[in-house]
Amino acid sequence: MYSRREIPASVARSLLGLIPGRSAFVWVVAFSVSLNILLLVVPFYAIEVFDRVISSGSVETLVGLTIIAAIALVFSAAFDTLRSRLLSRFAVRFERYLAPIVLESMIVDATNRGDSRAQDLAKVRELRTFLSSATIASLLDAPFLPAFIFILFFLHPWYGLIALVGTAVLLTMGIVSRWIARSEIAQASQAAQKTQITLDGIVRHSALVRAMGWTRGAIREFMDLNDQALSPVVRASERVYAIGAAARMVRTTLQVAAIGAGAWLVLQSEVLAGSLIASSILIARTLQPMEGLISARRALTAAHEAWKQVQTAAAPVLAREKRTLLPSPSGRIAVERVSHRTPTTPRPILAGIDFECPPSGIIVVIGPTGAGKSTLLRLMAGLERPSGGTIRLDDAALNNWDPDQLGQFVGYLPQEVQLLGGTVAEAIAGFDEHARDEDIVAAAMLAQAHEMILSLPAGYQTEIGRDGNRLSGGQRQRIGLARAFFGDRKLILLDEPNANLDPDGEHALCSAIQRAKARGATLVIVTHRPQLLTIADAVLLLRDGAQLAFGSPAEVLRLPVTPVAKPHVVRQGTESQRLAAGRTAR
Ligand SMILES: Nc1ncnc2c1ncn2[C@@H]1O[C@H](COP(=O)(O)OP(=O)(O)OP(=O)(O)O)[C@@H](O)[C@H]1O
Ligand SMILES: [Mg+2]
Repeated sequence: MYSRREIPASVARSLLGLIPGRSAFVWVVAFSVSLNILLLVVPFYAIEVFDRVISSGSVETLVGLTIIAAIALVFSAAFDTLRSRLLSRFAVRFERYLAPIVLESMIVDATNRGDSRAQDLAKVRELRTFLSSATIASLLDAPFLPAFIFILFFLHPWYGLIALVGTAVLLTMGIVSRWIARSEIAQASQAAQKTQITLDGIVRHSALVRAMGWTRGAIREFMDLNDQALSPVVRASERVYAIGAAARMVRTTLQVAAIGAGAWLVLQSEVLAGSLIASSILIARTLQPMEGLISARRALTAAHEAWKQVQTAAAPVLAREKRTLLPSPSGRIAVERVSHRTPTTPRPILAGIDFECPPSGIIVVIGPTGAGKSTLLRLMAGLERPSGGTIRLDDAALNNWDPDQLGQFVGYLPQEVQLLGGTVAEAIAGFDEHARDEDIVAAAMLAQAHEMILSLPAGYQTEIGRDGNRLSGGQRQRIGLARAFFGDRKLILLDEPNANLDPDGEHALCSAIQRAKARGATLVIVTHRPQLLTIADAVLLLRDGAQLAFGSPAEVLRLPVTPVAKPHVVRQGTESQRLAAGRTAR
């Protein structure tokens, strides 16, 4: 993942480039120009009425001028409506085009897993709201302020001066208001994220929280975090509101000053009465958006932060090269000098893992707790990228496969089975839109889960609850197994598939594995129990992240370092000899 400071400039450009309807912005600008020109109609009307109609006493001129002004105002209202409609449509497009990119990066960016990234999507939504807000409109009107000030100078230098001073004072206040709230806003958004992560955990595990007697503790924890998130917000708002109130006062004072100055100029016969009215309208027009801009500061800062976060979130997906779809693999897997470490671990979790397996082989991975077995499987499943070395499926490194295509060929049963909620059938087929019922049933049969599933209240349509929490551990494991077998898997990775199984289940598992093998799948199985060693073609022994041995079961089990109880029968096929001949322990 990119840290904020190193987001490539191209990210912002290509992100914006992706959004269709950017051309609508040309229209938005055109409407803004017309709108602001039409706004000049009111002061112009005032000048004409006071200085021409009143002195000449011509009713026709008054009627004519009024009709022109009315038409201009209708047009300006229409342009305003059109502009805000365009903006809100653009905002919706913005969300619709960015949300999938951000969601994809939440899914595929392996380096970033573990953080709660749902916030990234919330930021996209926040930006959408911002884009269609009144803040944007006042930002769009801002460039016309100099033109208004110029006209005021033209009416009389004093008016221009008042507007100029007012703008400068209000701008300074705006900058100050941004500056004093900056760190608080950043703090608040960080604290809010932390609160959300904690809240998610509490809600997800609410039953556990209650059963462990943590209810009050959880509430206290949440309230503490919430306070931490709120207090900077309160502090920032207080300051920003104080400045806002001061700005309002400055503006009204200046408007009063403009009228006073105008009256003085009229008395001195420097200007006509019409320009007094016109200038006070124009000064109000100039200073009002300023005030809007000051209160928009907060929204602008938040939007800026959100935009940065969205860029950070989208960067990995944008930076990812397009993958060519490769032919269906045969299932040959090669692990080449693989090592793995994370920023938090002082020493590598895995180092120097090196073995390979021909199609339809069964490798059993053994080793004591914490040896790195699950980590190896996660790397082989492509959940994480190894920090050193390469894992290849049919000669192509895993990261050269298109992730969705690779997913079709690799089945993975994690040590802690996580089932996506929904029905049993959905838990087995995942988000595969082309999943056929017969394939789901076939996978369940292979995993010996079919009868168990039929005994559930609604069979394959039984709702399994969030994370499958309405199922027993063994049921979850069998459904997880069916999911790993589902479809045309060429590489099946099972992390302690027999951990929750009774002896019958374990026996069934062995035959399921052999049937998957007969179908041409390569299997890599982590286990602590000896039963599965009887069907292994090769055994990989890990300890402390190192590969102690790789060879035929007989060979590896003979080694004094091997920790598991030796099974009674060790099958010795030609295949295991071939495997063992290839690589040996280091
Ligand atoms: N994401 C991670 N971040 C930091 N350390 C990790 C991470 N995942 C695993 N580890 C560490 O790597 C080591 C190996 O973990 P792993 O889960 O691979 O062990 P294992 O062999 O599967 O153990 P077990 O038999 O208990 O399941 C452990 O010391 C663990 O603390
Ligand atoms: Mg493990």
